[in-house]
Amino acid sequence: SIVVSSVFPCAASDDKRNFTEGFYFGVMPENFTWGVSTAAFQIEGAWNEDGKSESIWDRFSHEGGHIALNQTADVSCDSYHKWRDDITILKELGVKHYRFSLSWSRIVPDPTTGEVNQAGVNFYLNLITALKEAGIEPMVTLFHWDLPQILEDNGSWGNETIIQQYKHYADVAFSHFGYWVKYWLTFNEPWVVTWSGYGIGEYAPGIKQPATLPYLYAHTIIKCHAQAWHLYDTTYRPRFNGMVSITLNTDFFAPKNSSKPEDVEAAERAAQFSVGWFAHPIYVDGDYPQVMKDYVQRNTNSTDGSSRLPKFTDSEKLFIKGTFDYFGLNHYSTSLCEPADAAYQASVPKGYLGDMEVKLTRDPKWQKSSSSYLYYVPWGMRGILNFIRTNYNNTPVIVTENGVTDRNGTLLDFFRIQYIRAYINELTKAALIDNCNVIGYTVWSIMDNFEWTSGYTQKFGLYYVDFDNPQRPRVAKQSGTWYKGVIADHGFPD
Ligand code: NOJ
Repeated sequence: SIVVSSVFPCAASDDKRNFTEGFYFGVMPENFTWGVSTAAFQIEGAWNEDGKSESIWDRFSHEGGHIALNQTADVSCDSYHKWRDDITILKELGVKHYRFSLSWSRIVPDPTTGEVNQAGVNFYLNLITALKEAGIEPMVTLFHWDLPQILEDNGSWGNETIIQQYKHYADVAFSHFGYWVKYWLTFNEPWVVTWSGYGIGEYAPGIKQPATLPYLYAHTIIKCHAQAWHLYDTTYRPRFNGMVSITLNTDFFAPKNSSKPEDVEAAERAAQFSVGWFAHPIYVDGDYPQVMKDYVQRNTNSTDGSSRLPKFTDSEKLFIKGTFDYFGLNHYSTSLCEPADAAYQASVPKGYLGDMEVKLTRDPKWQKSSSSYLYYVPWGMRGILNFIRTNYNNTPVIVTENGVTDRNGTLLDFFRIQYIRAYINELTKAALIDNCNVIGYTVWSIMDNFEWTSGYTQKFGLYYVDFDNPQRPRVAKQSGTWYKGVIADHGFPD
C-alpha cells in the first residue's frame, strides 16, 4: 500500500514538492507515544492565587494594547481549579502522554530569594499523581515563556545570575516531581522567547532590540539548559532514569527553486539560523553553526572583527555539547528560501533576520490557516524530520507540538482533521520509510486556550472551551473524536 517514492529528496526538489500527496498506510512501532500539549500561562488562570507572583505575560496582557480585544489569561480555561476536567478529557482521548508546563512564578515566586511556594508545588503534585493514576505519562516543560516579572526587572536573561536561579528552579522541580516525571523539557521554543520577546517585541516583555538581545539572551538560555541537564544527569538520573531535552520550533526550510544552488544554500542557511542556533551547540559540538558565525560577523560591520553573536569559551562548549536525551520538535509550517535581495534586506529589521540574508516566502498555492504563520504544508513534516535525522545523528525525536488554528471554533472542524491527519501521515512516512527515529507525537492543543497575542480569537483545541461560561465546559470537537481513533489504531492500519 505504499504509494510514495521511497527516495527522499523533498528538501531540494521542486518537482517532488508534492511527492508525498499519496496517503501511506502504516502502524507505528509499539512504544511510539501519542499525546496532547498545553502550557501553564495559556490554560491555568488563577494568575495571582495561592502565592503565585506576576509573570511577564501577566504584566504584558494587563498593560493593554498588546493582545487581541485586550483579552487576558486571568481565568482562561481555569485549569488551576478544573484540572480534574482536563484529566477526564485526556482519558477520553486515550493519550499516552500529556505535555504541560510548570509556572515558575507559582513554584518559586521570588527567584531572587529562592523560597519555594508549597501551594504551587501541591497543585502540580495533584495533577502529576492523578495523571499517573490514569496511566498517562506527564511530559513537563520547565519554562514556557512566563518569566517571573521579578527576574525581568532584575536584568532578564542579560543578568547571568538567572542561570543559578533557573538551576535552582529546575532542582525544585526535579526533586519534587522527578519520581513520577520521565520526560522533561527545559525550554519551550527559545527562538520565540528571544526573537519575539526581545527582537521584534511582539511578545512579552515587548522589547525591540533585534540586533543584540536575541543573540545575548539565547546565549544565556543555552547555558541555563545545559545546567539543568547536567543537574539531572548527575543528581537525578541515577534515581529516576528520565529523559531531559529542549523543545525547538522550526519551519521546514525548502529552496524556492531547487535547481538553483544558491536557493539550496539559502535554505540550509535559514535552517542553521533557526533550529541550528540552538541545536548545533547542544546536539553537535557545543558551538553555533559555522555559517551563522560567519554571517553574523560579516553583518556586524566592526573594525576589530568582533561579532554581535557571543562566543562560548572552550569549557562552556564542552559543558553544552551533548546535553540532550532526545529532540523536542515543534513544527507547524514551511518556508521557501532564496538569497535576500537589497529590497528584502531593507524590509527586515537589522539584526537576526538581516544577518541571515535569506528571503523567506510562501507558495501562493499553499492553503492558509487563520494564523498568519501557519500554512498547510504536510510534506514539511517529513522534510524537517529528515533534516534532524541527517544533521543531528538520528537522535530520537518527539514532536512536542503540531496543530492548526481556526477562528470560529466550530465543533465540525474538518480543516483541523485534514491538517493533523496529513501531518501525522508524513510523520509515519518519515519513520517507516526514511528510518527517522521519531518516537512520539503531540497535538497542540487538547483544548482551546489563550493563544498569546491572539488571545482567544485563534483556537487550536481538539476540545472546544466556552469562555463565556464560568464552568468553562470542555466539549469534544470532531477532531478530538478522530484523533482518539488514530491513537487507538496506533497510526493508519491498512
Ligand atoms: C507554539 C507555542 O509553544 C504554543 O505556546 C503556541 O500556543 C502554539 N505554538 C501555537 O501557536
